[in-house]
Amino acid sequence: MCGIVAYIGKKEAYPILIKGLHRLEYRGYDSAGIALINGKLNVYKCKGKVADLENFAKDKDKSGTLGMGHTRWATHGAPNDANAHPHVSQDGKITIIHNGIIENYHPLKEGLKSRGHVFTSDTDTEVLAHLIEDIQKNENCDLAEAVRIALNEVIGAYAIVVISQEEPNQLIGAKKGSPMVVGVGDDEFFIASDATPIVEHTKNVVYLEDEEIAIIRRGEELKIKTIKNKNKTPYVQELEMQLEALEKGGYEHFMLKEIYEQPRSIKDTMRGRLDEEKLKAGLGGLRNYQQRMLNADRFIIVACGTSWHAGLVGEYLIEDLARIPVEVEYASEFRYRNPIITEKDVVIAISQSGETADTLAAIELAKSKGALIIGICNVVGSTIPRTTHAGSYTHAGPEIGVASTKAFTSQVTVLTMMAISLGYNKGTITEARYRQLVNELEAIPSKVEMALKANDQIKYIASLFKDARNFLYLGRGYNFPVALEGALKLKEISYIHAEGYPAAEMKHGPIALIDEEMPVVFIATKKGAYEKVVSNIQEVKARKGKIIAIVTEGDTTVKSMADFVIEIPDTEEELVPLLSAIPLQLLSYHIAVMRGCNVDQPRNLAKAVTVE
Ligand code: F6R
Repeated sequence: MCGIVAYIGKKEAYPILIKGLHRLEYRGYDSAGIALINGKLNVYKCKGKVADLENFAKDKDKSGTLGMGHTRWATHGAPNDANAHPHVSQDGKITIIHNGIIENYHPLKEGLKSRGHVFTSDTDTEVLAHLIEDIQKNENCDLAEAVRIALNEVIGAYAIVVISQEEPNQLIGAKKGSPMVVGVGDDEFFIASDATPIVEHTKNVVYLEDEEIAIIRRGEELKIKTIKNKNKTPYVQELEMQLEALEKGGYEHFMLKEIYEQPRSIKDTMRGRLDEEKLKAGLGGLRNYQQRMLNADRFIIVACGTSWHAGLVGEYLIEDLARIPVEVEYASEFRYRNPIITEKDVVIAISQSGETADTLAAIELAKSKGALIIGICNVVGSTIPRTTHAGSYTHAGPEIGVASTKAFTSQVTVLTMMAISLGYNKGTITEARYRQLVNELEAIPSKVEMALKANDQIKYIASLFKDARNFLYLGRGYNFPVALEGALKLKEISYIHAEGYPAAEMKHGPIALIDEEMPVVFIATKKGAYEKVVSNIQEVKARKGKIIAIVTEGDTTVKSMADFVIEIPDTEEELVPLLSAIPLQLLSYHIAVMRGCNVDQPRNLAKAVTVE
């Protein structure tokens, strides 16, 4: 969703801001803009990509050592030049960029209109720029104080940066509900919505808390105060992020790079947490809560999209190995349906970004009912891990491609370790089984590497099906969530309609769709309900559907029936999703590339969905 980058220092701001905006492109956006102050305020903004903005600003004055840039994902008002950020105040001297939504913008706007303010956009953000100006004039205060007073009038979520032509040595940032990080360099400061635009300049960062305002003045230390005017001491942390993680590293797309990173990202997820000898499959962050988890009446997993699919795998794992009942909920439904939650429930919130608005709201709801909240997140320092009682980072590294790939396998890896550990400690799996699973989990990274070797074959299959209008994905047991994930991957990046189903459900409706035009992807690995899936394959074959099957290496039964088979290494049934997801990621990737789609930034999608 929207992205923020701002700079104050001795260097020219424009190149830093443009590079920062490129780093933020992965979040998804539809317009971009920039503001620079050098004696006077210059604002350039337009619909489209950052490259369009660069083109637009080509012959214009881009000087200044204070400035800010924004990528906007439209909420209030269409994606056009007028609604793009930055927005300016009535007198054109104050300018603001904003992530989030000001819920009470309408009454604020009406009040300002009655005082003579005229608006040029449909956005809630412009209202805030005018409000700050209005307050500054009426209260005769400096910009920081006007921002503070304005934020006390605002209902909603925001991460904002404000600068003023009248106070050209000052950068102000504030946040509530949307993330904001301040980079502290030598005689220079950065503000951004996540650390990606900052990491190449400094590793020293301060994450702002809700309702905090960062006041940054040239030649002074960073000051933080709350909107209630309480001074806070900045807590400077070191970023762990590596710059290489933000580069394509020779791959054509971030998505492909991230698919290929999985042997390493899964290893990173397990690092220091797995030891068969010492009977350890524990997650440090959960140690103090183990007993409460073991005694739980029920686990409720809340998540959205791909993370929800990982949650479904978690349901199979935890019920199978630890015999604890699990429900998996779409966070967006859970939060609005008056769910029954008790203090004996454990809620597991799964989120790559750690910012998903619905997941966050589901957490708040469950917390208010006394449940223990555990987070499984990827982005360090994001909002969800700071809201939960305890949790585990997935340590998959930054995921830049909008379509989630390595985050999924890392989430499943954390859930697997959690289930194995709970099962062992609860006595629902034997020590021998425990050792077997831990051993096999350790072998997964190299098996993923083997699964990736099917890339050329998958590319060939993609070339045959790239023009299909529909796809069906079918699997059973542990492979049912993988079928859902395969279908989601395909539709989001290739725009081909795809449905995932439990294979046996096919007979109850989707079978009507099958004809010689319909590609059906079966995940038909050995074990589980393999024989049943084989029968389902026959049902599709009888209706002339085209069968692409993901099978365990050496399989001959499915091979004799399917049009194409893609082999993955054998593993324990519980760990199959970590391997069967890989060919499906590659299949959607190649189909999308062949259809000329923007794989890393698919239309309409955002990497972190910070609005409900
Ligand atoms: C799919 C995808 C989305 C996200 C969903 C949740 O590839 O990326 O479906 O999985 O928006 O996001 P997080 O995990 O950040 O909460």
